[in-house]
Amino acid sequence: MQLSDSLGRNINYLRLSVTDRCNMRCFYCMPKEGIVKKKHEAVLSYEELQLIAEAAVGLGIEKIRITGGEPLVRAGIVGFLERLARIPGLRHLALTTNGLLLADMAADLYRAGVQRLNVSLDSLDPKIFSDITRGGDLKRVLDGLDAAERAGFPPPKVNVVIMRGVNDAEILDFAEMTLAKRNSIRFIEYMPAIKEEGWQRYCISGNEILQRIADRYTLEQVDKGKYAGPSRDFRIPGAKGSIGIITAVSGHFCNECNRIRVTSTGQAKGCLFSDQKTDLVPFLRPPDLEQLQKTLREIVMTKPERHGISCDGYAHQNFAMSQVGG
Ligand code: 5AD
Ligand code: SF4
Repeated sequence: MQLSDSLGRNINYLRLSVTDRCNMRCFYCMPKEGIVKKKHEAVLSYEELQLIAEAAVGLGIEKIRITGGEPLVRAGIVGFLERLARIPGLRHLALTTNGLLLADMAADLYRAGVQRLNVSLDSLDPKIFSDITRGGDLKRVLDGLDAAERAGFPPPKVNVVIMRGVNDAEILDFAEMTLAKRNSIRFIEYMPAIKEEGWQRYCISGNEILQRIADRYTLEQVDKGKYAGPSRDFRIPGAKGSIGIITAVSGHFCNECNRIRVTSTGQAKGCLFSDQKTDLVPFLRPPDLEQLQKTLREIVMTKPERHGISCDGYAHQNFAMSQVGG
């Protein structure tokens, strides 16, 4: 079955957040003191999350990405992933992690049936990494990346949020990393999720990032796979890995958008930047598969055409990325 929205976009991808908690505090994602934690009962149980996943796959969703917060901090996550992986019709199960717990958990995740990992890594310099994440340990993440490959995963995609004056001096270091390593390094435009004073100074467009790499290296375009996200992909000739640019803010890849999102408290969103969300809890407590599917279909049908944010100014409310899972 194919699931299409009112604009004819094929929607085959669900991003499902399992927790808004995190063992890091990236400054662009969370306020220093952390977010107000959701009450325990507000967070969906694994049974409820499973029901959403089954409902979505029944409608035509083929790929699920588990996100957070940090999904690996939630107790019981491996068992949950194992049950998800068994949903008939689900073709692709992926997980996004900050990598801190990956060295310990990679083998279990692989055994559970997770097919791909994306790891967030914003600096290769221990001090800058620790500043961005407010205390994160770079070495543990790098060990996690290695552990993932040892466990059998394809080389994880590495997500790098580039912020002017913070880590933009490392653009070439990351690009260079692809010469020897098979990972795909994906440069993500910083999005003003947390409107701290002067957030505009961090903005740097995907085109500028690409230009800075192209000034130093020849880049050839790489074809995308079926479930590929909205990145534009390149390779330095002869390099083992590839380079992706995700212009979430400036690029408006909305016309190719294939996804919906559900937060860990059961709020479904058709667009990351939309203030519009739909509460799925009434169809989970008690479970009502028919209503759940009807509602998910409505969310797909009312997906906005495009988002309106930009780095010049924007009108939507603050949103905690840790709750919608990026
Ligand atoms: N801007 C850009 N990317 C962000 N992410 C989280 N917050 C932001 C933001 N404000 C990214 C994380 C992770 C992915 C899930 O979303 O770095 O790689
Ligand atoms: Fe945690 Fe990811 Fe947010 Fe950083 S960006 S605080 S790792 S959820």
